[in-house]
Amino acid sequence: MKIMVVGGGGREHAIIRKLKENPKAEEIYALPGNGGIAEDAQCVPIAATDIDGIVRFAVDTGIDYAVVAPDDPLVLGAVDRLEEQGIPCFGPRSNAAVIEGSKIFAKNLMKKYGIPTAAYEVFDDLDAALDYVKTAPLPTVIKADGLALGKGVIIAETREQAASALQEMMRDHRFGKSGERVVIEEYLTGPEVSVLSFTDGETIVPMVSSMDHKRALDGDKGPNTGGMGTIAPNPFYTEAVANRCMEEIFLPTVRAMKAEGRPFKGCLYFGLMVTQQGPKVIEYNCRFGDPETQVVLPLLESDLLGVMQAVTRGELASVPVRFGNGACCCVVMASRGYPTAYEKGYPITMAQEVRPYVYVAGAALKDGRLVTSGGRVLGVTALGDDLAQAVKTAYGRVGQVSFENAQYRLDIGQRALRMEE
Ligand code: AMP
Ligand code: GLY
Repeated sequence: MKIMVVGGGGREHAIIRKLKENPKAEEIYALPGNGGIAEDAQCVPIAATDIDGIVRFAVDTGIDYAVVAPDDPLVLGAVDRLEEQGIPCFGPRSNAAVIEGSKIFAKNLMKKYGIPTAAYEVFDDLDAALDYVKTAPLPTVIKADGLALGKGVIIAETREQAASALQEMMRDHRFGKSGERVVIEEYLTGPEVSVLSFTDGETIVPMVSSMDHKRALDGDKGPNTGGMGTIAPNPFYTEAVANRCMEEIFLPTVRAMKAEGRPFKGCLYFGLMVTQQGPKVIEYNCRFGDPETQVVLPLLESDLLGVMQAVTRGELASVPVRFGNGACCCVVMASRGYPTAYEKGYPITMAQEVRPYVYVAGAALKDGRLVTSGGRVLGVTALGDDLAQAVKTAYGRVGQVSFENAQYRLDIGQRALRMEE
């Protein structure tokens, strides 16, 4: 089979490695892939947002199955366009990807169907929004409606911060059209849990839970990033919480999307907060999380390609989806200065024996050598019988990888380990 994976980060590297476990995955193409993915797939220099280019490549190459991993091509309708050409895909059509593409859509859906989430108001007028935050409870959470590279959420501690965030989004167009409309919502507290799920629009199968570490520095300090590390499973996701999530959030969301004429097929990601009142939705993503995928897929014991194809055919209920009992940890090695300014082009050295456990996010090949090319460079992972062992092994492997200007957190998994005690 010829398989095409759209995207080029650590998440896509983890997906490709897992797909390759099935011998039917004879040829895998990554669009655009990266210098590390090039060891596992044929990289094709077509950007993940170049929908015309992606469709043309898929048709010309005779692609049998496509996996569209990042949010932008999904929201832009890559799956719709590929399906028009008769190419089966893993990923939602654009009318379902809107669950991530528009925060207002997602909030209104939850309100209409009684799915627990933070209370909110929607604004498209700057003055009305500024008025509202004069009396809103603090801290207050301001979210740009559209995709904003994970930077469209501001938690304002003061009224001044709230006002300037609104001005940046709505008047100065810091996120382009994405910030023309905003959601202002209640600030929730509690541990965060990520749950990725497979769904074919009817059946939903949650994957093992995980925990992201979004802040750049140890102790959850510093700016928000795309994610500096992950662990799975997440100890805050107890069986009781899982049962409530299934009844109050997962099934209602899948049914709501179907009822709206937007059946969701693919990976639906629930960003949850376990509050005093129970689990609530912080955000939906229409795709695998990054770096959650790097700890979830290594624990998947079933055949990923088979599960994905069952999702595409609407037959998810008929395939096994099993996860191992152990734990997994991923430590992201980033470029110093990430998420703001950083230098790139530094050679990466890596012991041969750790390569199978390293997912490459931002590295290029230069004269046959892997060099840093992004903010997040590598995700160094390990499985373990339990979380403590996975964390220890992952950090041991980090010690076998080096590049100048590397920056990484030393406390990935520590909050979860404290919870387990
Ligand atoms: P997002 O970009 O939607 O993933 O949001 C980034 C982060 O902002 C989340 O992971 C949460 O830590 C935080 N956040 C988002 N919404 C809320 C909220 N209503 N209350 C508290 N924290 C929030
Ligand atoms: N790690 C969070 C995300 O993928 O959006």
